[in-house]
Amino acid sequence: MQLDIAPIGDRLDLYDELAGGWPEFMTKDPTGGLYYRYSDQFWPTFSLLAVDKETGRAVAKAHSVPFAYDGDPAEGLPEGGWDWVIRQALHDHLSGTKPTMVSALEINIRPDLRGSGLSGLMLAAMRDNAAEHGFTDLVAPVRPSGKHAQIRQPIDVYAHATRDDGLPVDPWLRVHVRAGAKIVNVAHYSMTYAGTLEQWRSWTGLAFDATGPVEVPGALSPIHCDVEQDHAVYVEPNVWVHHRI
Ligand SMILES: CC(C)(COP(=O)(O)OP(=O)(O)OC[C@H]1O[C@@H](n2cnc3c(N)ncnc32)[C@H](O)[C@@H]1OP(=O)(O)O)[C@@H](O)C(=O)NCCC(=O)NCCS
Repeated sequence: MQLDIAPIGDRLDLYDELAGGWPEFMTKDPTGGLYYRYSDQFWPTFSLLAVDKETGRAVAKAHSVPFAYDGDPAEGLPEGGWDWVIRQALHDHLSGTKPTMVSALEINIRPDLRGSGLSGLMLAAMRDNAAEHGFTDLVAPVRPSGKHAQIRQPIDVYAHATRDDGLPVDPWLRVHVRAGAKIVNVAHYSMTYAGTLEQWRSWTGLAFDATGPVEVPGALSPIHCDVEQDHAVYVEPNVWVHHRI
């Protein structure tokens, strides 16, 4: 397949083909909602779309965002992960602060093409795009794609688990490490959001009728359910990686 990978620009209609990658509850994260609401307007050249040249169909997309950070990313990145970096990028944009590096936010492969090796290509395109903008560091609060199958395992164990060949057990972390990234640290509360129990029932189809942890399919850690207070809170851990480019 011959791919044309370029900033999404006005080809927003092609996005639709890439829908369907996430469990419904994941689409309720308000911080992500804020980013996607403004990504085309504020950072038009940091979202890439891959199109199959033969068919004209969208194949994958890759979102990233420039932001300012005064620390050394190889030494440690904030616990707040995804939520933090989106807030930071918006703050920098609104205040006119010069960004110092780029954070990957999402790579999404068209559902029928997953598992065919495209993620590495999109990651390489994202690294190249950051370099073309003059940046030398790309970081990412990676959502480890296999963690949902080990929902009770502590993230600090899962994030550093390796196979016999020394590469991460997690498939998505493995793609980053193969591309040259180093795992920096866990972001323990990377994505945090709440809902009433009625909202969680409608998002997941589960009962949410007992106080305590609830294992929702697709979640990376159990959701905290509080029946007495009528709310439940999801705290998703991610893993910061750093690509020196
Ligand atoms: C996660 C995602 C980007 C991976 O992209 P992909 O093109 O399907 O993955 P690849 O074919 O490049 O495979 C990458 C690795 O994952 C493994 N893998 C792929 N699908 C897998 C699955 N369903 N289960 C377990 N491992 C899997 C591959 O074997 C490969 O490992 P290897 O190179 O060591 O053999 C893609 O599945 C996706 O878009 N998912 C939905 C959105 C998402 O979760 N994005 C990531 C967080 S932003």
